[in-house]
Amino acid sequence: MQGILNINPDQFSLDETSMAERGPLSIIIAASILSAEFSSLGGQLAALQQGGADWIHIDVMDGHYVPNLSFGPFVLPVIKKYTNLAVDVHLMVTNPDELIPAFVAGGANLISVHVETCRHLYRSLQSIRAAGCKAGVALNPATPLESLREVVHLLDLVLVLGNNPGFSGQGWIPEMAGKISRVAQFLQQAGSSALIQVDGGMTVQTLPEAYRAGARAFVSGSAIFGHPGGIAQGILELRAAAK
Ligand code: DX5
Ligand code: ZN
Repeated sequence: MQGILNINPDQFSLDETSMAERGPLSIIIAASILSAEFSSLGGQLAALQQGGADWIHIDVMDGHYVPNLSFGPFVLPVIKKYTNLAVDVHLMVTNPDELIPAFVAGGANLISVHVETCRHLYRSLQSIRAAGCKAGVALNPATPLESLREVVHLLDLVLVLGNNPGFSGQGWIPEMAGKISRVAQFLQQAGSSALIQVDGGMTVQTLPEAYRAGARAFVSGSAIFGHPGGIAQGILELRAAAK
């Protein structure tokens, strides 16, 4: 099946470097600033860029869809001021369609929405792509991957949650490795080259399992910002864990 913007993972790029250029076994590390030290956000963002993060992952929460509140599009100019990394937006809100334009205007490169929050998932994905962004669908641990079937040609990325959405530092639900494998198989059978991203519970112990299952983009909050050796060391160790 040929999608409108069918992406080969080897060429997947939100920035100037494709996966092929990144080299064999290459992975994307997306740092979730939900775990950042907010009193020095600018410095933390600069440290992510210097430390080799690929994308900045923004967890947007509205206190309704998930039991936590975080930040809105106002954070984008801060990210742009301190880094030139690609911005990966994960919308955990009840009405994502209302927020998509503001994130697009702020310079988001990729926007992922949850199946359960979109009254018309097809339309939401179309509108993200029409705005020039890459589009992703996020699957909670309980969300069946069958919800992807009718929109698979509109997907640049599938975000598989490693735990329930809403908080950093919750750990990894081991069954999610099997889910990643099933998503990988499903995408292959559908002829899709969408990238699989895993979000939640990634550590040097759990990342290899998710990698073997087929994930190539890894969101991390606490393993990066909570690393005793600092942000760069956290990123380095996660990247090394895939090898
Ligand atoms: C939570 C978010 C995740 C979270 C990851 O629902 O989507 O991005 O911040 O945090 P860790 O890596 O600590 O599990
Ligand atoms: Zn996330």
